Parts: sequence; C-alpha cells; structure tokens
Amino acid sequence: MAGLNEIRSKYLEFFGKNGHEIVPSGPLVPTNDPTLLFTNAGMVPFKNVFTGQEKRPYVRATSAQKCVRAGGKHNDLDNVGYTARHHTFFEMLGNFSFGDYFKPDAIEFAWTLITKEFGLPKDRLLATVYIDDDEAHGLWKKIAGLSDDRIIRIPTADNFWSMGETGPCGPCSEIFFDHGPKIPGGPPGSADQDGDRFIEIWNLVFMQYEQIAEGDRRELPKPSIDTGMGLERMAAVLQGTHDNYATDVMRALIVASAEASRTDPDGAHAVSHRVIADHLRASCFLIADGVMPSNEGRGYVLRRIMRRAMRHAQLLGVSEPLMWKLVPALVRQMGDAYPELRRAEALVTETLKLEERRFRETLVRGLKLLDEELDRIGDAKVLPGDVAFRLYDTYGFPLDLTQDALRPKGIQVEQAGFDTAMERQRADARKAWSGSGQKATETVWFELREKLGATEFLGYETENAEGKIVGIIVDGASVDKAEAGQEAAIITNQTPFYGESGGQVGDSGVLFSGTGAEFPVSDTLKKLGDMVVHFGKLARGSLKLGDIVEMKVDSARRTATRANHSATHLLHEALRRVLGPHVTQKGSMVAPERLRFDFSHPKPMTAEEISRVEDIVNRIIRQNQDVMTRLMTPNEAIEAGALALFGEKYGDEVRVLSMGLNDGDDGDGKTYSVELCGGTHVRRVGDIAIFKIVSESAVASGVRRIEALTGEGARRYLIEQDRLVKEAAGALKIAAEDLPERVISLMEERKRLERELNDAKKKLAMGGGSASAEATPAQSIGGVNIVARVLNGVNPKDLRGLIDEAKQQIGSGVVALVAVSEDGKGAIAVGVTADLTARFNAVDLVKAGSGAMGGAGGGGRPDMAQAGGPDGVKAEAALDAVKAALAAVAA
Ligand code: ALA
Repeated sequence: MAGLNEIRSKYLEFFGKNGHEIVPSGPLVPTNDPTLLFTNAGMVPFKNVFTGQEKRPYVRATSAQKCVRAGGKHNDLDNVGYTARHHTFFEMLGNFSFGDYFKPDAIEFAWTLITKEFGLPKDRLLATVYIDDDEAHGLWKKIAGLSDDRIIRIPTADNFWSMGETGPCGPCSEIFFDHGPKIPGGPPGSADQDGDRFIEIWNLVFMQYEQIAEGDRRELPKPSIDTGMGLERMAAVLQGTHDNYATDVMRALIVASAEASRTDPDGAHAVSHRVIADHLRASCFLIADGVMPSNEGRGYVLRRIMRRAMRHAQLLGVSEPLMWKLVPALVRQMGDAYPELRRAEALVTETLKLEERRFRETLVRGLKLLDEELDRIGDAKVLPGDVAFRLYDTYGFPLDLTQDALRPKGIQVEQAGFDTAMERQRADARKAWSGSGQKATETVWFELREKLGATEFLGYETENAEGKIVGIIVDGASVDKAEAGQEAAIITNQTPFYGESGGQVGDSGVLFSGTGAEFPVSDTLKKLGDMVVHFGKLARGSLKLGDIVEMKVDSARRTATRANHSATHLLHEALRRVLGPHVTQKGSMVAPERLRFDFSHPKPMTAEEISRVEDIVNRIIRQNQDVMTRLMTPNEAIEAGALALFGEKYGDEVRVLSMGLNDGDDGDGKTYSVELCGGTHVRRVGDIAIFKIVSESAVASGVRRIEALTGEGARRYLIEQDRLVKEAAGALKIAAEDLPERVISLMEERKRLERELNDAKKKLAMGGGSASAEATPAQSIGGVNIVARVLNGVNPKDLRGLIDEAKQQIGSGVVALVAVSEDGKGAIAVGVTADLTARFNAVDLVKAGSGAMGGAGGGGRPDMAQAGGPDGVKAEAALDAVKAALAAVAA
C-alpha cells in the first residue's frame, strides 16, 4: 500500500522522466494574483506563464502544490469534518504544458500513469468531457479504449474550469474512479452523482482562454494543459478506502489528536478529530507561509479555521490548549516534503498555543450564552442574527463557528440580522470618527478607508506581488483614472510596499500594468492606520480602477532598511544594558542609509560606553540567529517582556519581534531583544553584518541621539575612516598608530612657535633686539620726548603692552603707535608717562590720531588711550596729527 509521500514522489518522478521540470510548491499566499485569497490550485504559480506574461526556461512542468480552499470562489470550510473528501488544506499534483503538448499527450500521460504506474484497473475508470468536446471524446476512446458509456459528456460548468473570477480557464475532462456497488452513488451527470461511489480523481484542463473580466474572455497565446489530482483522494483510492481521512497521513493526525485528548479516534468524537486533523494542516501551512491570525483578510480566514478547530478540541473535553501538541506529528508526516514547515515549527507551535489560550478565555462563556439562547428559541430552528453577532463581537466566534456549532442540531443563523448588526457597528465607528474632529483634508482618505477596508500587507514575505487598483487620488479627489504626467496616489487591495510607520520610512519602487503603464512610487504612506497609499507621478500610460498591477519594491533600499531596523532593536537593548533600564525610546528613524535613535539618558555617553554598546550589538549580529515573529495581544507581549512604546496605540494583535540570545556575561540563553514592532526586519541577525555608531549628541534636555550605520553603509564609512587615517599618516610620513601622539606634539609645538613668533615680531617692531631698519628713534617736540611708529603685522591687542614697554624705555614722554591690520584698518594707541599727565591727555591725543584715519572717538585714561579708524593707509598722517596736537599743547 503506497503512502501519501510515496505517491507524491512517484507522480513527480513520472512527469520528470517525461521532460517536465519538477517545480517546488509555490506559497499559499499567491504573489502573482491579487484576486485570489489563497493558492487554490496547482496552476496558480504558473498563471502568468499560461497567459504569456512570464517566460520560463521550460515548457513542461510538474508540481505538488499546497492549496487552501477556504473563503473565495473555492471554499470548502463548512463541509470539513462531515464528508469523506472536503479539506481546507490539500495537495494538488499537476502536470503543465505551456503551449507545448495538448489534449492527446495529456490524456496519454494521465492514462499511462494511473493504469501502469499506479496500477488502477481499467474497468474501474470513467472519463467526462465537456459537452461539445468531440476531440477529447475520441482520444479517450482511442488511447484508453474506454467504451462510449464510460465517456460522459457534461454540459455544465462542472466541466469548464476557471481559477477565479478572472484568469486562465478552459473546458476540462475529468477522470473518475468507481469504488464499486457496495457504496451508494451514481456516475457523473446522473441524479445521484453526489454519492461516494464515483469519485473524481484527476482533472485535465485544456487551457485555452483567459477571463479578463466578466463577459471578456480571450484566447491564450497557445493552447496549454493544466491538470490537478487531489493527492489525498488518490491516496484513498490506492489505499483501498473511499474516505480521505482514512489515509495514512490524515489517520496519523487523527490518532495524534485522539491520543492527546485521551479519546477514541472513531467513536462519538470522530467528526471533531477530522476537523482538527484538517484544520491543523491548514493552520500550520498558512502560518509557515507568513499568514498570522487577525481580524481582517487572510488572517481572519486563518483565525476562523483555527477557532473552528479549537471549538472541536474543546468538545473533546480537554481543558488545556490542544492544537499545538499535534504539530510534531504533522512535521513528522510532512516536514520532509515541505521543509518550510520544519523551519517554522517554533512559530507555528507558539501561534497555535497563544490563539487557543486566548480563545478559551471567551469560548466557554460564549457557548454558555449560546445554550441559553437556544433554550429561549425553543423549537424554532433559527438563531436570531443579533445573538450570532454578539457571539462574534464579544466572544470572538466567527459566524461559521456558530453555524458549525448549530449544525448537528439542525439550527440555522438568521443571516440578515447578523448583517444588520454588523452594519450598525460600522456606522457607529463612522460617527465616532466624524465626531473626532479630523481635518477635512483627511476626509477623502476616510471615505476610501470606509469603502476599501485595510490594505493587505504582503511585504513581510515578499517584495514583489500583484495588486488590484481599488483607489486613485489625483489633486485630493478620488478618481477613476490617472494619466501619464499626473501626480497620483494609488491604493491597491494588497501590496508588498511598506507604508511609513513606526519610524521606518515608506518603500519606493515601481508599479507596472499589463497595458504598459509605469508608475514609479516615490513614497508609501499609511492612512488611517492600515490603508497603504503609494505616491508618485505616472511616467507612462494610464491606470484605472480595477487594473492589475505588478508591484516591485526597490529591493536594495528595502534590504538596507531592514538591516537598520533590526539593528535599532539591538541598539535599544544594548543601551539598556550598558546605561541602565531608565533608557527608553523617545523616537527613531529608520532609513536605508542610516538609523537614528533618540532615548532618555541624562548625560553624554562616554567613549567607553559607546564602544561597549557597539561590541554588544556586533556580538549579537555574529550569532546569526533567526529573527522570530509572533503575534500576541499587547498585554501578553508586555508580560513576555517585550519593549513597548508608552503612549503608542496598538491594535488587537501586535507583532512581537525576538532577536538574538543572551551570551557572554549575560549567558542565560534567553532571548536578547523582545520588542513590539510592525516594521520589516532581516531574516537572520547576521544579515545586519556590521553596526557602527557615528555620532552621539543631545536633542533635548535628558534626551540623547545616536546615529548609526549598518551593512554596506557601515563598511563604506569604515573604509573612508581608514583612508583618512592613512592619508594623514602618509602626509606626516609616520605609521598610523603614531598619529594621535604626533598630532598632540605637533599642536604643542605649534603653540610654542606661535608664542615665539609673536614675541619676535614685537621686538622687531619696536626696534629691539637686532638693529632694525624700521626702528625710528625718539624725537623731541617742545622738550617732550615722543616715540611715534607705524607697526606692521602687530596685533592691535598687543599695542597696550608695547606702549608700556616704550614708556619705560623713554622714562618721560609720549608714545604713539599705529597697527595696520591685514584688511587695512588702523588701530592707534597713545601713552603719556605719569609725570606728564597733568599737561597732556592721552585720550585727546588718540582722538586726533584716529580722526586722521577716518575714525571717531577713542577711549581710555589720561595715561593710556586707544582708538581705531578705517583708513589704515593714513597711519603716518595719524601720527602727524598726534604730533601736531602735542605741539599745540607744548607750545
Ligand atoms: N486547475 C484544475 C483544478 O484545480 C486542474 O481542478
């Protein structure tokens, strides 16, 4: 009996042997299609290859693709647990031809595989074809030798396959397996076709068209093939059962659930075990692919799946969270085929545990309310909608959980009442907003947010994805279309672009449309918390509502930003360890080229503290641990020790980032940094590469600011520093390590030389020391000695000292000195020896001198006065004026 893993391998090997590229499964969140909630078929990752938009180096491919059908066009959630074949998560085996082979080969391959490789008896097989597909009919006859009564023409949509509202599609031909007359049910197309006897095992789609929009179906460039075989169904057939849940992998999970709950796998709780087994797979694979439980979009579908399973876990009578205990069993079964499951095991376990713990807080009370209400309605078979809404709003019961709980009792929920209650709550929120005095300019955003809801952010997982345009704003107004040359703001239903928030700058990049439009995104912002808006100027073509755009984030810029953001967390923690727990974040700015972090600390950091912080951060970087993201309520996160920003508003769920392990002196092996954060981060701390602080300064009293670099920015900075040191050392012709000492000694030497030079200049100017040509001997005017000199290159500040010296030299008399500065201004000082101050006033004399140089005034005492004048060229005239004034008094 072939196990599920063996069947998967056999399938892939068979097509591999037949020239098909074996392609690993794509993610459950499709990045190439904004209209799909989840990857719901094997062809989804190849969608753009079928339409010719994307080229690959092969024209034949085969894959085992993870699929989720819950929410959207293909939704099986409600039936899971109650039927033999419905799943939320399943694997689809497929072979694909991109314009290479068509119907004959597809049918030939399929027939060979199931009859030769898998050994299914021919007489248990049937095929269906689309009503007018004579070609396929003929091929089944020729290749498989099926008789006419075993080739059934189907006129309905059952034999026309499409991926979603849009996308590649075409008529199909399905292969059925007959489980035999002991099981009730009729062949396809018959009245009792929904029975379990005839089971579709493989769908061959003859891809010929692309649905562009409703009523607009076009031919694909080349006819192609897409096939889908449900692995679980094929395993059931090959393992001799008609029940997918009796196959090896599903059974192992059911047994794990029964063991963990100490219940019988097949007794009264059989449905619950099936629900748990199926939903466990969906939850784990979705979390591993980056979906986190939330209250909107994909996260809400995940939450619905998780909570539905958790209610069934509660029905098993266990009082503790159960789902997380089953993760090892799943990893054992599927971890080899899907290594991402093993990688995410810790995250998956913890997310399940937290969600179940939280949900249990309200589950029991909600179920009690439900029981009371059921008593109240008595025999009526309808639960009032407002009760279902209360269960949803207060107790966290998704509507389908309530429906599931009522199903065995045959009771339905009054949907209209539920919808009305939901709408009333939205209207109240609207009123609260318009009453909150927001600016009128924001009204356009509010109206759009009301209409569009939150934008689904894909950027934690990917930097490229497709999005559907749902809003265009030009000149502050919401419009249908933007033209080349226009500045516009574009909103899409989902985006890989990060909108500026939490200190991290918005992404830039570019949006392309299939019709040739190109919209470079210069900035991305978040409006009203969770609506992402791309700003830019349309460079080419036009964009309209409903257009699908390829969205590419500037990857180099994002990578650098990630590193800086993660480094900010490591820095924050290092500061607390080095400076103390009083350090709290006061602000931060994370850009691609650098990071800035403001924090409370009363005094400048010492060089030693800075280098300790750098050491710690770089040590954690070198650990190269995975960065872990979890989702918690704000309170749980804070209890878990996460650093949160006081005064910041957090939603119902917060992302909690954990990085690094305590080591060295703090080596308790615990997580080094735990912080609430919605930003984008590196996968492993080693991706930060290097951390370097470049400045530490004050921003406000008690608040310091660190600016730092990481990765390539830090490397370049260090190279530049190195170059500067080498250049300086080279100029001095010394080794770099002697540089500091040499610079200090050079500075001291320079100070000494300056002092000596000044002294020499003064001496020279006064004619002292060696004989000087400039020296002018003292004259006598009316019996009074006078020294009058113009001094070049002497600082005016030195005049006073020189006057005193000259006064001493002459013993009795008047000294007048003029210094002319480099910019041509004159400064004059006049001194009168004490014995003459009764006759001559230095202030009067200096005024006469400065007047000659165009100056006015002058100040000082009778024995010493100073003044200046703009016309230094008239220095000699100034001295003459002093002499004249002196002569006038002396006469
Ligand atoms: N895409 C086809 C399906 O999902 C094969 O059935």
